[in-house]
Amino acid sequence: MSEQQSQPSNMNTSGATVNGHSNGSNGNGVQAVSQASPQPINPFAPRYAQIVGWGYHVPEKVITNFDLEKIVDTQDEWIRTRTGIEERHVVASPSETSATLGIQAAKAALEVADIHPSKVDLIICATSSPEHIVPSTASIIQDGLGATNAGAFDLSAACSGFVYALSMARGHILAGDAEYVLVIGAETLSRIVDWTDRATCVLFGDGAGAVLVAASDVPGGITASVLGSDGSGADLLTVPAGGSAMPSSLETVSSGGHYIKMDGTAVFRFATRVMAEATRQVLGKAGLRVEDVDLVIPHQANVRIIQNSVLKQLKIPEEKVFVNLQKYGNTSTASIPIALCEAIEAGKIHPGNNLVFVGFGAGLTWGACSIKWSVPVAKPNETWWRNTARQATYQAAAARSMWKRAIRRVYSQFPAESRWGGRKEENELS
Ligand code: UT7
Repeated sequence: MSEQQSQPSNMNTSGATVNGHSNGSNGNGVQAVSQASPQPINPFAPRYAQIVGWGYHVPEKVITNFDLEKIVDTQDEWIRTRTGIEERHVVASPSETSATLGIQAAKAALEVADIHPSKVDLIICATSSPEHIVPSTASIIQDGLGATNAGAFDLSAACSGFVYALSMARGHILAGDAEYVLVIGAETLSRIVDWTDRATCVLFGDGAGAVLVAASDVPGGITASVLGSDGSGADLLTVPAGGSAMPSSLETVSSGGHYIKMDGTAVFRFATRVMAEATRQVLGKAGLRVEDVDLVIPHQANVRIIQNSVLKQLKIPEEKVFVNLQKYGNTSTASIPIALCEAIEAGKIHPGNNLVFVGFGAGLTWGACSIKWSVPVAKPNETWWRNTARQATYQAAAARSMWKRAIRRVYSQFPAESRWGGRKEENELS
């Protein structure tokens, strides 16, 4: 297990607050309104969406290119030279799912921000391998965190999902609808990969990354976003069966319709074009030039795509582009937040830096966010009591969830409109 835990931010050493709200504060001086007693938003106060926490989690089990040589007709040399990938992490037991990986990443992000889960207003989980079609993986994560004041939804934009979700978080915060938004990219792609298809199974990996986005009056943060889609390419990268267009059947199972199918070359061409375009566009929106960029964190799919787009077309030097796909493969929505955490760990991000996150994926979709990093990455003073409160909440969340399920089972024995099956009892659960 590898978990980023150790880079607490202390957002805002300038003592900035969230638009004057004073009830509820983390150790970093970021103050947020409590949902129990919401305060009116001052529409004239400056408001920014800052990334104040970050974390990731990958499963312990590693599959190397050499391991894959034993499974399909492939070679380490082919995979390394055509993709840059050397190994990937995959889940090893049924108890590891997209939600459990997402919960671990989210806990790490809350720890860095030193924020209690009850302060989170919204959880967005971008995922290409959700736990179910219904309900959302985000709701399962919400329950696991004990984030009892949070709304939760999944966002489906394939590998562009994290950038899309970050853009949604920014919008929600700037609109005054949330003080804290957890944005998670979580994947167990190994469960939807055809392990007999060498064209795809060598590419993907499992993992989750998360950031906590907070409302703040410190200028900077997520300053601009660009989102795009071209649905005419929907068939280029797809899991064809299991949705309403092709419901699950014996035939969809036997024909492998529930696995990832991809026209790799077409996706490669598209990706190379849109990564450069989206980066240019988002920089234009943020009022920046390519030379102003300190670090690009691209979707980690193929090192050749990154070389042909960001390095060659935009002429951004190699040292300003973060690449870690050799260790994780393509983790879809999780790739950018995992790379962000590792870039911070590697000392590549400092307050004042201009960052670009840029991604592409099935849909087809693409997106980019420009970030003015405004948060110290040094470890602040330990707040053990907040940590203890968070750990207690996580323990209580599991018990609370079990208790609510048990009570619902009891109530389900009675007609919905009876004394024991009605709304009154349902309300008592919450
Ligand atoms: O998040 C978005 C997800 N998708 C992507 O990012 C995919 C983007 N596309 C790519 O990264 C690349 O197109 C691939 C890595 C998928 C493929 O690389 P390529 O350089 O475009 O190879 P290709 O598909 O043109 O295949 C070249 C050869 C073929 O053999 P022949 O027909 O030339 O004899 C393939 O059958 O390589 C063969 N091949 C392999 N050989 C060994 C394909 N996969 C493998 C493999 N091992 N795993």
